[in-house]
Amino acid sequence: MGRSDSLTAAWASPAAADRYTRTAVALHWIIAVLILVQIGLGWYMGDLPKGPDRTYFIGLHKSLGITTGFLILVRIAWRLTHAPPPLPEWLPRWQARVADLTHFLLYACMVLMPLSGYLSASFTKYPMKLWGMPFFKAGWESDAINAVFNGLHKGTSWLLVALLVLHMGAGLRHLFQRDGVFRRILP
Ligand code: HEM
Ligand code: HEM
Repeated sequence: MGRSDSLTAAWASPAAADRYTRTAVALHWIIAVLILVQIGLGWYMGDLPKGPDRTYFIGLHKSLGITTGFLILVRIAWRLTHAPPPLPEWLPRWQARVADLTHFLLYACMVLMPLSGYLSASFTKYPMKLWGMPFFKAGWESDAINAVFNGLHKGTSWLLVALLVLHMGAGLRHLFQRDGVFRRILP
């Protein structure tokens, strides 16, 4: 590449190759908010006594969770067809490895959370609803099967929270160090 080529490239898009696509950025932040709300709702509604409040918040958690699940499918399809930008060369190798592993496990949790929640709720006597509309239910009334998926839902939620502490801690560290890593995923 000649001098003028590299200058044009640098001018046209200073760092296009080391940024996530706009779609990936939008999906990351929309899903991040939805998941944090879902965790908050999950913890809050668990302590509510039986009654209209509990019914309302569980219904909201299910509809929001199914909606988030569909967005996660879109995100995974996008990710499989759009490689993320390579991490900067100066980043220590072990940090790049931990980041890769964390991101992979976050994706696994993003699949398991809505799936286990949906399956758990499918094996109860309650009808499945999505924003008030009847929604396909994958099971029948069975306390035993419900308990298995419910256990998976709760267990995975703790793995997710632990990963998020790590992920957000690392993210904030990059933000405050202004080393350019956080900017990769900023709108
Ligand atoms: C709450 C739910 C969140 C989930 C599930 C999540 C998940 C992910 C995943 C899977 C990636 C890797 C994307 C890929 O390579 O395909 C990523 C990237 C990133 N996330 Fe999050 N994230 C969340 C919230 C946050 C928050 C709150 C912050 C801010 C501290 C943050 C900061 C970042 C940064 C800086 C990157 C880019 C890392 C890089 O340059 O490779 N994330 N996130
Ligand atoms: C992004 C997806 C989701 C996240 C992050 C999430 C998170 C959580 C969390 C943190 C809890 C509390 C667990 C505990 O008490 O330790 C919970 C409970 C629950 N979730 Fe989800 N959830 C999601 C999707 C769903 C979906 C799609 C459904 C059903 C359609 C669902 C149904 C439930 C139910 C019924 C409970 C109450 C379980 C109980 O208290 O026995 N969740 N969820």
